[in-house]
Amino acid sequence: MSAGTDTIEVHITDVSAAADDTRVFWLARTDGTALPTYAPGSHIDVRLPIGLVRQYSLCGADASAPVYRIAVKREPASRGGSAWLHSAAQVGTRLRIGTPRNAFSLSDTADQHLLIAGGIGVTPILSMAYALAASRRRYTLAYFARSDASVVFRTEFGRSPLADEAHIHVGLSPTATRGRIAGLLSAALPNTHLYVCGPPAFMEMTVSLARNMLGEQFVHQESFDPVVRVAGDEHEFSVRLKGRSDAIPVPAGKTVLASLREAGFDLPSSCEVGVCGTCMMRVVAGEPDHRDTYLTDDERAAGTCFLPCVSRSNSSVLVLDELA
Ligand code: FES
Repeated sequence: MSAGTDTIEVHITDVSAAADDTRVFWLARTDGTALPTYAPGSHIDVRLPIGLVRQYSLCGADASAPVYRIAVKREPASRGGSAWLHSAAQVGTRLRIGTPRNAFSLSDTADQHLLIAGGIGVTPILSMAYALAASRRRYTLAYFARSDASVVFRTEFGRSPLADEAHIHVGLSPTATRGRIAGLLSAALPNTHLYVCGPPAFMEMTVSLARNMLGEQFVHQESFDPVVRVAGDEHEFSVRLKGRSDAIPVPAGKTVLASLREAGFDLPSSCEVGVCGTCMMRVVAGEPDHRDTYLTDDERAAGTCFLPCVSRSNSSVLVLDELA
């Protein structure tokens, strides 16, 4: 299996503060040519010189612009990525990025789009709002932030073309937030699609309300937060690749991805925390124990996809295959 790691060399052309804990970076190709266009909601891998790969949503106003814009919130529990981008990255810094990928697409058939963002989850939502406004499709955007100082891109939300449909809610309690979102959902027209990105608890609440009020097929979500793993809940099992007879042991504390690589298989990966989908494989036999935040509930229930960077097995043997 090839790694699928096409990368592009870029440099930072501008850096600015977008909120008290968020920096915005503009990236351009070092050879001066245009970066690929992207669909609203897309993200890129950013490969940092300190050896980490992080995913950031593209949040420019124009997806066909030759440069990219990303916004990076400094996470207090940063494992190094956002801390490095806040402390060391500056104009001129060179980075390698992946080509845009999109698992958070706008529906082509919706009659209305309801965009809901919590905190830095506003970044993919922003590019969606610009695209909807440009194509004059019907949408409403609700952006929930914990404080005035943490509102990202406030100026843009306050002016054309977003001002009429974008509503910023600051400092609401969880109960008030839930009530506001339930109100938006109950006022939604038939065939409204909901898109949500934000912190895990915020997304969980919104998705569960929306599934009940709109239906599963109308709900789209994007998460960059890794799953929380519970220590001591892992047991050993084996994996086999389709067409091979050798079973590869996966001990507690080691991932399927690491075990397969150690056995000599060249498998792609990016986030390695179950949020990007890069490492996805097909389940041929066995019962997966999904621990990612990438697959939808329907995909989990179908039991045919598997993310070996975090997920494990409920059966003693799991048979996997590469995606075609
Ligand atoms: S590498 Fe990102 S989900 Fe596995």
